[in-house]
Amino acid sequence: MDNNTIKYAVVGTGRGGTFMNPAPHMNMKLQAVCDLNPDKLIIMKYSRNLPEDLEVYTDYDEMLEKADIDAVVLANYFHEHAPFAIKALKAGKHVLSECAAINTLAEGVELCRTVEETGKIYMIAENYPFNKARMEMKRLYQSGELGELLYGEGEYCHPMNEPFNICPGEYHWRNQIPSTYYCTHAVAPIMYITDTVPTKVNGFVPKIKDQSYRGNEVRLQDPGGIIMCQMSNGAVVRTLQGAFRAQSGITRLHCTHGAAEQNREDGRVLVWHQSFNAGDQPKYRVYEPEWPKEFASLANAAGHGGGDFWVMHYFAEAIHKNEQPYLDVYKACAMSCIGILAWKSVLNGGACYDVPKFYDEEDRKKYENDNWTPFLKEGESPEGKPPRTASSWKPKPEAYAIAREKWEANGYLGLGWEKKGLDAELERLRSIGKI
Ligand SMILES: NC(=O)c1ccc[n+]([C@@H]2O[C@H](COP(=O)([O-])OP(=O)(O)OC[C@H]3O[C@@H](n4cnc5c(N)ncnc54)[C@H](O)[C@@H]3O)[C@@H](O)[C@H]2O)c1
Repeated sequence: MDNNTIKYAVVGTGRGGTFMNPAPHMNMKLQAVCDLNPDKLIIMKYSRNLPEDLEVYTDYDEMLEKADIDAVVLANYFHEHAPFAIKALKAGKHVLSECAAINTLAEGVELCRTVEETGKIYMIAENYPFNKARMEMKRLYQSGELGELLYGEGEYCHPMNEPFNICPGEYHWRNQIPSTYYCTHAVAPIMYITDTVPTKVNGFVPKIKDQSYRGNEVRLQDPGGIIMCQMSNGAVVRTLQGAFRAQSGITRLHCTHGAAEQNREDGRVLVWHQSFNAGDQPKYRVYEPEWPKEFASLANAAGHGGGDFWVMHYFAEAIHKNEQPYLDVYKACAMSCIGILAWKSVLNGGACYDVPKFYDEEDRKKYENDNWTPFLKEGESPEGKPPRTASSWKPKPEAYAIAREKWEANGYLGLGWEKKGLDAELERLRSIGKI
């Protein structure tokens, strides 16, 4: 360890576990971990063989005050990232934030101002742009072979049946997230490949009457959300997100001189040209691209098709160079806010909204008090708040009864968010002498 070592903390021990292995070539050290739940901290520390001198905290503010850290990685609840990021930046820490970056437009304004005021590095941990196929599609697009984007499609669909383990209570974010909100995985790859940002947005959800196929689900979410965006170059992009059947992550581009697509499952790239403008290129080719050689083994070993490696790599690179990363705070807010605006649109018959120019203080003033959010705090009444579903979907009362039974059996606190105790896992670690 030297003066250039980036000492960082991870907040949240679910997805946060991914970030506990620092990029080995980037001079980073995991210094601290924070989670509300002390049991999770014990389990994380010992089951993952984390450093003995690791600092552990259950209180975020205390961690910011006491831990010997340069940066924080935020993997706390989906809709609570911005306030955590703002606190960290103000405490002089760099921030890598899981998606979404913001839960309201006002948070976006405050977050951008804070990054500018503090000069600290901010990056969104959006990993979906960085798989082999999409990095190759960026290379292709930037080479000019495809021409300019006219229309694109991005998807992130993640169907889950009765996911009681990862939605541990009625008010957990996964149970109440509207279907357009988990949008960054779908749109970010297109932004990254084509260097465009969304400027206008609307949204729709399917509203079929027969919802019986959803059985005993208790998630308050429409089957999925569809977002249409006009992009900064004038192109149109459609994204799909939510729980549509068939897990999917396709990215597809139709451009002035050709088209390209990430093959749905096997990560190959498909490229088309019309015979009249193919030039020297074949009319159609399908191939598996490669990583840059020096990082191939690290990227291959990482989750999400290598994306988890590149996120840490680019975050550390930005800190070492003291230059904001490609996925900076403005792109983070733009890609996150389309989920918010598309939800407003869904509730307003498909109305079209401008995406705030988060980089422009004049435009920011219009949104600095826009605190519109459908997320409820635990115990908060839905009365007067925007709804979280727009179709006729209502979980059955008997489904709630089953869910409450399962949550309780799993040790979760009634309708709350956190487990009482993770006794079985603690016992297992004890029995093998880990703790
Ligand atoms: N990029 C990806 O591929 C990917 C994958 C999974 C999750 N995520 C994102 O990561 C985030 C976390 O996801 P998850 O599945 O782990 O969620 P989760 O709700 O299961 O876990 C969140 C953790 O944060 C902790 N936490 C919440 N508030 C806290 C606080 N005030 N102080 C300390 N700890 C706190 C909770 O105790 C919990 O352990 C979400 O935003 C999600 O969208 C991203």
